[in-house]
Amino acid sequence: MELTEMIRSRRTILEYKPDKMDKDELLHLFNTAAYAPNHHMREPWKLKIYEDSARSSFGEKVVDSYIRLGLLKTKQPDKLAKARQGYDRFFNSVPYHILFYMEKQDDGGYVDDENFAAVCAFIQNFQLLAWEKGIGTMWTAKQTLLDEIFIRDVGLSPEKHKLVAVVQAGYPKKIPEAKERSAMGESLEWIHTSQIKGERAE
Ligand SMILES: Cc1cc2nc3c(=O)[nH]c(=O)nc-3n(C[C@H](O)[C@H](O)[C@H](O)COP(=O)(O)O)c2cc1C
Repeated sequence: MELTEMIRSRRTILEYKPDKMDKDELLHLFNTAAYAPNHHMREPWKLKIYEDSARSSFGEKVVDSYIRLGLLKTKQPDKLAKARQGYDRFFNSVPYHILFYMEKQDDGGYVDDENFAAVCAFIQNFQLLAWEKGIGTMWTAKQTLLDEIFIRDVGLSPEKHKLVAVVQAGYPKKIPEAKERSAMGESLEWIHTSQIKGERAE
């Protein structure tokens, strides 16, 4: 597949087949994704990959966080129990859940921003490389990634680590329709040399 076709045809996949991908193939994709740009070759990406029975316990931690943060609409115990069952089914229906994180270096300063950007570049490389091999992904990033209890629950430290994303990966059961993008003409401006002076916004 050509790169243009790969970028345009990739979809966020919500439903997966149960089949697991070959681990060597996955490792190969990660090794290629690591050619993402990253300043000073810090290679800040770190991954935890949840599979098999670890998916349920990871899913439980995610749902605990959703409840803590008030992200679920209901507070009724029976409805919460049903929601938990639904999430458990979802977490077990996806072969791999990949938690991307990084070590903090300057407590939210520009180095951390650079590293965060590099991890995002890695993730998109991975999504496209996976798509080329017929593997679907879903990039998720909710407030949970900032939840200090959740960060500890996954064995990390809010002081030392920043969570970047959870990405689901597996062979797609259903490929959603394309979501068209807006034409870029509205979102960009060409700046001519004559316009450079007096540009500072109020
Ligand atoms: C930072 C980030 C967070 C996202 N979070 C979610 C999410 O929580 N749930 C979800 O279904 N998709 C999530 N997505 C995927 C987007 O919804 C998806 O890319 C968008 O709808 C366009 O669809 P497409 O990827 O199929 O083109 C996220 C994507 C990014 C980059």
